[in-house]
Amino acid sequence: MKIAVLAGDGIGPEVTREAVRVLEALRLPDLVLMEGDVGGVATKRHGTPLPAETLEMARTCDAILFGAVGDPDCDHLDRHLRPEQAILGLRKELELFANLRPAKLFNGLEDASALRPEVASAIDLLIVRELNGDVYFGEKGIRTLPDGQRQGWDMMAYSESEVRRIAHVGFRAAQGRRGRLCSVDKANVLETSQVWRDVVTEVARDYPEVELSHMYVDNAAMQLVRNPGQFDVVVTGNLFGDILSDQASMCVGSIGLLASASLGEGSRGLYEPIHGSAPDIAGQGKANPMATILSAAMLLRHSLHLEDQASRIETAVAKALADGVRSGDLGGTMGTAAIGDAILERL
Ligand code: NAD
Ligand code: IPM
Ligand code: MN
Repeated sequence: MKIAVLAGDGIGPEVTREAVRVLEALRLPDLVLMEGDVGGVATKRHGTPLPAETLEMARTCDAILFGAVGDPDCDHLDRHLRPEQAILGLRKELELFANLRPAKLFNGLEDASALRPEVASAIDLLIVRELNGDVYFGEKGIRTLPDGQRQGWDMMAYSESEVRRIAHVGFRAAQGRRGRLCSVDKANVLETSQVWRDVVTEVARDYPEVELSHMYVDNAAMQLVRNPGQFDVVVTGNLFGDILSDQASMCVGSIGLLASASLGEGSRGLYEPIHGSAPDIAGQGKANPMATILSAAMLLRHSLHLEDQASRIETAVAKALADGVRSGDLGGTMGTAAIGDAILERL
C-alpha cells in the first residue's frame, strides 16, 4: 500500500506531519509512505508547481495525502506557475471528479460553531462537489477592450456526461445515508446550471428511493446558516461547492476540522483538508491538524478499505474534542503537535 505524501506550502507540512504520525501509529503492515514536492515549494525547487516526478508518484500510488498549496510570494507569477495549479492539475490528471466534504458537529463543539448551539447540533451533511469542470477548467483570459481597459473572462461550462457522473455519486451517497439529495445550482440565471438541473432530474429516475430537491445557490447559502439540519447530501458544481464547504466548516466550528476525499472511478483517491496553506499562521506551530488527520481516516476508508482503522482515528479525534482538546481556531491554546499527541494518546 503506497501512499504519496504531498505536504506543500505554509501549514501544509505542519498538519501533514501529524496525520503521518497517526497513520504510522496504526502499524499497518506493507504501508509505504513516499514524499513529493508540490506547490510553491516545487515551483521554487523545480520551476513548476507539479513536477513530473510528483505526478508520476501520484499516478502509481494507492492514495495521496495532500496538505495544502499556496504562497503569497507566488501570487504575481504567471498562472501556470502558481502553487494552486498543482492541486488543480492532480485533480484533473487523475480524473478525481468527485469531492466528498462531510460536515458533522462533534460533541462538545456546540459553542465553537458560529451558529446557535441548537441550530448547530443538527448538522450532519455531506457536500458532494464536482471537481473536474465548471468555471475552474474553462477557457479563460484577460483581453483589452477597445477603450483600453482590461477585461478578465472565464468560461463556465458543464457537459451532460460530467453532470451525470457526479449526480450518480450524489445519489449513491444519499442511498447510504438518510436518503435525501439536494442539488444546488443557479438555473434561474445560468445555462450551465439549466443543463445541470435537467441531468440531475433525469438521473433521479434511477434512484426512486432518494428524495431529490433543487435549490438555488444563494438560497442554499442562507439555508446553511438558517437550518443546516435540513441537509443530508448536497450535490453541486466546482465553484459553488468550494464556497459552500468553507461556509459549512464554520457551522461546525472551524475550517481546521473539515476533511475531504477526491475520488474518481477507481479506488485511488486524494485526501486533503478543505483549508489552504494559511500563510497568516504558517510556521508558528498553531494550525489545527484535525482536518488532515480526518482526511487520513477517509484515505483508509475509501482507498485502502480499512474501515475499522478509519473509524478508530475518527473516534480518537472525537474523544479528544469531547475532552476539551482545542487549538486556537477553536478558542483553545494547544499547538499543532500537542493536538497530534492528544489524538495519538486516545488512539
Ligand atoms: P486558508 O484556508 O488557507 O485560510 C483561511 C483562514 O483560516 C486563515 O485565517 C487561516 O489562518 C485559517 N485556517 C485555515 N486552516 C487552518 C487550520 N488548520 N488551523 C487553524 N486555522 C486555519 O484560506 P486563504 O487564506 O484564503 O488561502 C491561503 C492560501 O491557500 C492561498 O494561496 C489559497 O489559494 C490556498 N488554498 C489552498 C487550498 C488547497 O491546497 N487545497 C485550499 C484553500 C486555499
Ligand atoms: C479548495 C481550494 C482550491 C479550490 C484552490 C486552492 C484551487 O480552495 O480545495 O477548496 O478552489 O478548489
Ligand atoms: Mn476552497
